[in-house]
Amino acid sequence: MRKPIIFGNWKMNKTNAEALEFVNGVDAHVTDKADFGVAVPFTALDTSIKAANNLKIAAQNVHFEENGAYTGEISVPMLKELNTEWVVLGHSERRQYFNETDADVQKKAKVSLEAGIIPIVCVGETLFEFEADKTESVIRKQVSGCLSGLDGEDVAKLVIAYEPVWAIGTGKSATSEIAQNSCAIVRDEVRNLFGDDVANKVRVQYGGSVKPDNIEEYMSQEDIDGALIGGASLEVESFKAIIDAIK
Ligand code: PGA
Repeated sequence: MRKPIIFGNWKMNKTNAEALEFVNGVDAHVTDKADFGVAVPFTALDTSIKAANNLKIAAQNVHFEENGAYTGEISVPMLKELNTEWVVLGHSERRQYFNETDADVQKKAKVSLEAGIIPIVCVGETLFEFEADKTESVIRKQVSGCLSGLDGEDVAKLVIAYEPVWAIGTGKSATSEIAQNSCAIVRDEVRNLFGDDVANKVRVQYGGSVKPDNIEEYMSQEDIDGALIGGASLEVESFKAIIDAIK
């Protein structure tokens, strides 16, 4: 049985004080029905981790080198020092605006896992690729590019978020059928690379305009183990409604 995993992704939102207000507003509401968490800006990591008892706190990125001349970047030892246990990698906005590649994500996932930080690895096709019927080949290529060369036991622990780029922040969510189909492809590619046992353990999320009123439909799908949620994770009431929807 895979435990559901629901993470908010705040992106470049919330100051330290706002993050604290959110964590204090949500933490006591968290249940054991799923791993519930939020991916916060670097500046809010320390405060959020210290304030959270139940909510998991993730970083939104990390560099694959331990240190060096990489202005503006943050390394795994820096995350570890703050007791960070989760990191989102390869979000489509990182790929689109900061030119992140599958190879970068693979290196980031490797160093994170070595340090005991669990990656949430994001994949998903663009609208152009979706309309050209390329979804399956794009997802398979991203999954293998991001995970090849990693240890199977490690891969079993991580999370893969399938987020079609055309559904992110657009209010245009994928149908549960499309989401299920793509999440099944993600799992099948993990099976090709690492075998049945790892494929059955790895948790796959759907992301893209998930809200309190559509999350149950996604969660009822066989290969969808959770959600990565942007907009609807920013408000305390909306995140609490999401927690309440997971029974
Ligand atoms: P959204 O974002 O829920 O606002 O569509 C999802 C994401 O980018 O992870």
